[in-house]
Amino acid sequence: MGVLCYTFLAITLLFSFTNAATDCEVCEKLAVAFMKGLENTEGKNFEGGDVDWEEKNLKYKTSETRLIEILEKVCEKSDFKCNKLLEEQEEAIETWYKKFRENEDKPLRTYLCITTVNACCPENKFGDKCEECPKGNSDEICFGRGKCEGAGDREGSGKCVCDSEYTGDVCDKCADHHFEIHSNDTYILCKSCHPSCDTCTGENATECIACRDGFKEEEVDGVKRCVDINECVEQQNLCGDGEYCANTAGSYKCEVCSKVCDKCFGPSHRHCYSCKPGSIMRMPYMCQDIDECSSGAVCLGMYEVCVNTPGHYKCECARFFRRDPVSNQCQPDPAIYSRYVPKRNENEENKDDIQQLSVALIICLIGTMAASGNICWTLLFFLSILFSGMWWASDKTDRIATSLARSY
Ligand SMILES: *[C@@H]1O[C@H](CO)[C@@H](O)[C@H](O)[C@H]1NC(C)=O
Ligand SMILES: *[C@@H]1O[C@H](CO)[C@@H](O)[C@H](O)[C@H]1NC(C)=O
Repeated sequence: MGVLCYTFLAITLLFSFTNAATDCEVCEKLAVAFMKGLENTEGKNFEGGDVDWEEKNLKYKTSETRLIEILEKVCEKSDFKCNKLLEEQEEAIETWYKKFRENEDKPLRTYLCITTVNACCPENKFGDKCEECPKGNSDEICFGRGKCEGAGDREGSGKCVCDSEYTGDVCDKCADHHFEIHSNDTYILCKSCHPSCDTCTGENATECIACRDGFKEEEVDGVKRCVDINECVEQQNLCGDGEYCANTAGSYKCEVCSKVCDKCFGPSHRHCYSCKPGSIMRMPYMCQDIDECSSGAVCLGMYEVCVNTPGHYKCECARFFRRDPVSNQCQPDPAIYSRYVPKRNENEENKDDIQQLSVALIICLIGTMAASGNICWTLLFFLSILFSGMWWASDKTDRIATSLARSY
């Protein structure tokens, strides 16, 4: 009963976690694992007996024993789809093993996945009817500039996924920001433009046809080229209070000022236009925090220490002391005593285990009733799983909290 219930649970979990491998992928994986098994058992033989090795190896090679040995290891235990396929196709695999193993024209993938299971297509064919992947005018799939999506798979889309330099249905055009080096009816070669160009005739910065966003055409040393627009200079107030503008190639970004600056033009405390309260300008554009603690006139409460912060200070309790929320004064920290709390005794832990075991048993009982198809039992089953999960989680948090307090 318990086993039944856990199997049911495991299968539910598997269904929700297995990634969406196509039937062809499952079959191919199985075929590869089988071939690997064949390879691994190549040099084996039957043990014992006084017949010579050669003869024993020959017998073993074609034996049912070897087949079974391979099949046992073909699917991982947790691979539900693989095990299902293996169960369905065991006979077909045995046929191939006995008849076609030595036949070069009938590899296992072809025999099992294409012909028998009908999940895969021959190489470079795709889809329900195993159509040829697109080529355009070229002899090569996707003009030799991309991959055919789902090639060899009956669930494949057969669309070309182009390499980054190319685009178009069959990858026979240059992608944006690329130019054509050479092309004819059956061939194309493209390369990236200079980063400042939107379109271009060559890869140099001087070979732009149009500039990319964030760049403008300018004549430098008598040659026209695209140069970066410094937005931070050309436009005002791009960034908010407490930020400065940083130019980037083709754009700009807003970065936060140093903690001591109110307004700034760069990242450090030497790039301030004005200082935050609690800091002062020591030199032009340089703000420095005032150390309020150094005066000795603050944080005068019992067991209090002063901690300087940018623009301010705070009064904290000394080590091993903690602020009492009622009196607001620093008092010995009760948490440091918790390290002397006696350890949870073992009986208690055992009790927990027994509790958890009984709950699991009850859930399984409900699960068995639920298997009859009654909606109430099914509902109860899922609720009981939910509640036991919450109970388990809360117990864990308690323990983590206790152990944290202890280690403090
Ligand atoms: C197209 O160009 C490629 C590469 O230069 C060349 O190998 C091929 O023969 C050319 N084909 C035609 C039809 O001109
Ligand atoms: C591109 O620029 C490089 C140097 O930056 C130069 O050597 C090369 O000749 C240029 N190519 C063209 C086609 O102008």
